[in-house]
Amino acid sequence: MPVYLSIDELSPGMTLARNINNKFNMVLSKGHRLTDQDIAGLRRHYPNMMIHVGDPILDEFTSFQDDSNNFEVAYNVHTEISQVAQKVNYALRDKTMLSMENVQGVNKAVKDMMGYIASTKVSHAVMNQITSSDQYFQEHSANVFYLSVIIGNTLSNYIKKERQKFSRAKQVKDPFNMTPLAMASMLCDIGMIPLQEIRTKTDPLTDKEIELIKNHPFDGADMLPDEMDPMIKLAIRGHHENMDGSGYPRNLLGDQINIFSRIIRVADAYSAATAEKVFSDARSPIRVLFEMVTEPFCGFYDPAILRVLFRILQPFPIGAKLKMSTGQTAVVVRHQLNNPFDPVVILAYDAMDEKISSENLERPFKLSEKPLLHLVSFGDEDISYLNNVVVDFGKMEANSDETQNSESAMLASIIPQRKDEPEEVGEDGEAIQSMALPFNLLYP
Ligand SMILES: [Fe+2]
Repeated sequence: MPVYLSIDELSPGMTLARNINNKFNMVLSKGHRLTDQDIAGLRRHYPNMMIHVGDPILDEFTSFQDDSNNFEVAYNVHTEISQVAQKVNYALRDKTMLSMENVQGVNKAVKDMMGYIASTKVSHAVMNQITSSDQYFQEHSANVFYLSVIIGNTLSNYIKKERQKFSRAKQVKDPFNMTPLAMASMLCDIGMIPLQEIRTKTDPLTDKEIELIKNHPFDGADMLPDEMDPMIKLAIRGHHENMDGSGYPRNLLGDQINIFSRIIRVADAYSAATAEKVFSDARSPIRVLFEMVTEPFCGFYDPAILRVLFRILQPFPIGAKLKMSTGQTAVVVRHQLNNPFDPVVILAYDAMDEKISSENLERPFKLSEKPLLHLVSFGDEDISYLNNVVVDFGKMEANSDETQNSESAMLASIIPQRKDEPEEVGEDGEAIQSMALPFNLLYP
């Protein structure tokens, strides 16, 4: 079983529970016993890396969820798609439009990866974190692609229904065809490529620059060859529209936004918010997920898509060490499908930070089973904001016999219905309509 440690916590003799990969290669393989030299090298090259190491005592005591396949699939898709995105990026460096020749290979790579994702099931989606701004386009594109395709595959019936609603045709052609979604998710930000200077600017943006950014969905669609499927362009044009009408460039509302655009909006926001960029430090996946379903941002997204996002993401890695209010440290053993805020954990370290011996270990439990035990931090991050959510989920589960479907009731409790009033006032008294722009610019 893996405990997820920072580089500083490693010591010689620890065994790797997963392969360590850099961008394109395996650095050390699963099962390798770390030496002083390995640790020194890892600290030099990857000072912020987190690493899964084996823990024989915990491993014997309980069975941890094996999610190594999820990481492998994410890594393969990410590597392949980010290489294709890099080619698109190069092709656009000195042009304002892509030709069919430029995008040759994109379609094939996208279809290959869609087939790979469909045939290699993952229990949860894991995302690669983006670390450098100069590779932002290709890395981000790969993440948005990966998440959009997984959401699309999970939501195919809803997509069919929404496409039919959106279309004037009696029957939508090929309603289960996810290729336009996949292509659009990969190419949605090509309109940002010519805006490299603005993207990396740390000073406040001018009105003109803000306008250019707000127009990147349209500019991006216009850069694609005429022969490309219009559905792809439509999806790209709408990928920053919000369900509550606060998005850009056209302030579309709810059903007016194409379903593929709505999916990309969610995947894009999640990936961008968890990425380290010039103007904002990365936020943890759990923080981002929490913010996406709470005020003031929850009205941006299609609740049906958020529900899927909650099912498929695993914001706490297996083996993550969570500091608790008693001073003890719990380690994540399993994810709970449908509730990423309530993983199954085991108390593995006492208040003195010493490992609890095997005879004193208690059985793993869901956080919601012990409402008096509060979350304090994960790494350097204060995660106490999750405590109420965890307790609420516990109550929902206890009352599940009152509802036909406890799963949808649970999710409904944290995913409010969309707000139709754009003048809704946020916590600080500022109208959401006026908050929407800075938020969107953080997630260009
Ligand atoms: Fe965008």
